[in-house]
Amino acid sequence: MAGLTTKLVVYTVLIVFAVAGAVSAISITLAHQASVAAYERHANVLAKTLGEAVLEPLYELNVKQMRQQVSSVHAGEGALRVMILDAGTRVLTDGTDDNPLRGRQFSAPFLRQARENAEWVTRLEDGVIQVAGPVQATADRRLGYVVLEFSTARLDAEWMQHVRLTLLLAGVCAGLASVAAVIMANWITRPIKRLTDFATSIRLGSTKRSVPECGQDEVGRLADAFTDVLNHLDRSNAELKALANSLEHKVKERTQAAEAGNKAKSEFLATMSHEIRTPMNAVLGMASLLEETSLDEEQALYARTISESGEALLAVINGILDFSKIEAGKLELRTAPLDLEELLSGVVRMLAPNPAENQVALRLEYDAGAPKGILGDEGRIRQIIVNLVGNALKFTEAGSVTVRVTGRVADRRAGLRIAVTDTGVGIPEDSLEKIFTAFSQANSTASRDFGGTGLGLAIASRLAHLMGGGIEVQSMPGKGSTFTFTCDFATADDLVTG
Ligand SMILES: Nc1ncnc2c1ncn2[C@@H]1O[C@H](COP(=O)(O)OP(=O)(O)O)[C@@H](O)[C@H]1O
Ligand SMILES: [Mg+2]
Repeated sequence: MAGLTTKLVVYTVLIVFAVAGAVSAISITLAHQASVAAYERHANVLAKTLGEAVLEPLYELNVKQMRQQVSSVHAGEGALRVMILDAGTRVLTDGTDDNPLRGRQFSAPFLRQARENAEWVTRLEDGVIQVAGPVQATADRRLGYVVLEFSTARLDAEWMQHVRLTLLLAGVCAGLASVAAVIMANWITRPIKRLTDFATSIRLGSTKRSVPECGQDEVGRLADAFTDVLNHLDRSNAELKALANSLEHKVKERTQAAEAGNKAKSEFLATMSHEIRTPMNAVLGMASLLEETSLDEEQALYARTISESGEALLAVINGILDFSKIEAGKLELRTAPLDLEELLSGVVRMLAPNPAENQVALRLEYDAGAPKGILGDEGRIRQIIVNLVGNALKFTEAGSVTVRVTGRVADRRAGLRIAVTDTGVGIPEDSLEKIFTAFSQANSTASRDFGGTGLGLAIASRLAHLMGGGIEVQSMPGKGSTFTFTCDFATADDLVTG
């Protein structure tokens, strides 16, 4: 705001100065010119009067009388020089007693002009008013000349005085104008400052909405417009807030409903799987008892088919039960000391294909530096590995499946990587994400040949997460895949490892 005030004051003072200066300069100059012109006229009249007064003495060549006339002009008017010249422009008298110029030729340009044109000449040169004119007895008889010179020094001094006075007045005017300008500037800028302060307080979060009184002029209208904008903004804000609230409310309601639905579904699945398992176990038990009775070949085949289908069904049901338990948040891990190498050797032994039927070799490579004794849920770790190795064997026709364990101990924690690498069909890149979601398979036709529900990886990766780890996959279609289970386990020191 100080900026605007300063500008207003400076501009006003400059304008006052400029106008006052210009007006005074013009008026002083005009007045000076007028007084010089008046002085010139006066000198002219004086010269002509003197010319008439010395007509007779010139005629008679009465120098004494001429001197009296001249000295009276000297005394009365304070002239620089007053002279009477004869017809040949020689000095007759200059008004003084000793008259040192007497008899000298006087030839100044203004006199030459008066002589040649037989007229009165008045000139201003270097602050001196020069007048010269002929004294005629008759039209063609010239007796002599009158020469007068007056200094304008007095007029110049008066002029200087005027200039000084005017400057003083201009200074006083500028001072008064400054005071007036400060008052005016404050008067103009005060409402603007009020409005700016108000806007600043709004920016800093003030909830006050009464715009300060800013008058009826442009600033007042600006303040009114500002109020309108503020009110509009407030209304929009309130509407937005209400909308956001209702949206939030709806989202919460729907999330709750979805969560409840999901939970109910998982609970239903868990109960159902559990309920199916009991009669299923009875069927399996009875089938195996039946197999032990004496049956002919055909009957034995039927009984074996019942057993195998029952086992497969039970595996599916177990998968659904596990998955729904995890989804319902009901699966709890049991931690106990275990020997990881022993666990993995067991899995490899159990899953190793019969060399007579299958060309795939299954190997375990346990890094010498990798820790073995850990605290973990043995059953669930086995489930993850069985799944990964089972998939690898299922999708590999020839070549090998390798389980490679690396890792090291730091801060009493065993950081382990268990990588299951196969030389099988591989997985297309766009399916890599999908295979970890429940019931999804990379290639439905292929899976139809191999069987499966698409639950294995979903369960395995969720179990890995529950343990604080994860499962990553890298694959090249046609070349093979590597599934890596990484997890940090607490070390079990008291475990006797071989
Ligand atoms: N080692 C593997 N090689 C090729 N494809 C695999 C491999 N492991 C898993 N997959 C793909 O991921 C899908 C999901 O596997 P998974 O969840 O275990 O279900 P399922 O074995 O019941 O089909 C499989 O159907 C298959 O398409
Ligand atoms: Mg599987």
